[in-house]
Amino acid sequence: MTLEELQAKHEESLKELAAATDDAAREQLRIKYLGRNGLLPAIVKGFKDLPKEDRPAFGKITGQWRQELESALAGTGGVAAAPKGPAFDPSLPGRWTRPGAKSPISRVMEETAAIFARLGFSVEDGPDIENKFNNFTALNTPAHHPSMDPSDTLWLTDDLLLRTQTSPVQIRTMTANKPPVRIITPGRTYRRDTTDATHSANFHQIEGLYVDIKPVSLADLKSTLTYYAHEMMGPRCKAIRFRPHFFPFTEPSVEVDFQCHVCGGKGCRVCKQSGWIEVAGAGLVDPRVYRFVGYDPEKVWGFAFGMGVERIAMIKYGIPDIRWLYENDVSFLNQMA
Ligand code: DAH
Repeated sequence: MTLEELQAKHEESLKELAAATDDAAREQLRIKYLGRNGLLPAIVKGFKDLPKEDRPAFGKITGQWRQELESALAGTGGVAAAPKGPAFDPSLPGRWTRPGAKSPISRVMEETAAIFARLGFSVEDGPDIENKFNNFTALNTPAHHPSMDPSDTLWLTDDLLLRTQTSPVQIRTMTANKPPVRIITPGRTYRRDTTDATHSANFHQIEGLYVDIKPVSLADLKSTLTYYAHEMMGPRCKAIRFRPHFFPFTEPSVEVDFQCHVCGGKGCRVCKQSGWIEVAGAGLVDPRVYRFVGYDPEKVWGFAFGMGVERIAMIKYGIPDIRWLYENDVSFLNQMA
């Protein structure tokens, strides 16, 4: 190859380069000129056959040519772009992985457990799949009770069901332990409900049970839940009230309202102007329940209560739709954090 031929090739390559507008075409050129079997390596290989005096001129032209090609083709294929400026730019923002946030359901359950721990209650767990005895019979639910109907309860077999309440953990705990027992049981519960803004077929409850070998009264229940309401809902919630009700497993039974934590009982939108918000069911444990678990109803006294976790989360955090609690929407969860 002569010097003229070399220069002709050089110019030809620059024209090709100007015409190569897309990445694929540029990659083709990179392979053609700089690739392992490309033209430039071949030319360099041929240097040894050149007359000694011609070598510097060839070397200079070829070296410049290579630099031109490399910088023009930077970023394609194997040719990395030469870093310009300092390798590390301290003005760039850092990289974030967005941390998630605990679900309000978990927060309510954990906070509740912490509050009751201060009163000596421990946490008991029970299975989501229960038998009829624990979920209904031992809780003094008569055989004809409508809650056992397949339109309300999700039955798996004639005897097994998805628990409709956390109350069966009362039965499990008393069957396995002598009094006194002092437990709360947060967990999942299931009912054959259609989902809307306030209902979900899968929801959560927290059950509480205190049974002792000395008298326990409604006053104890009231003081316990008043403390809980105040700790859970904040300083504006100073009181609770009982309204008469019926549950098969308690006698007497009450429904429990918390003083509205938003208005302090004056009446507002959240409590529908009543000053109170319905939160729990409760009562003194029915003597028949004691018989089912082998306790002597003449020798033990106790109270029980049950409340909805979603309901507490919704009133505490002002969540208008129960479905938000299950959608795992990061922007919602981050607001909760
Ligand atoms: N298990 C009841 C329900 O799901 C709630 C309840 C009410 C639990 C009164 C109790 C209680 O322990 O004493 O509606």
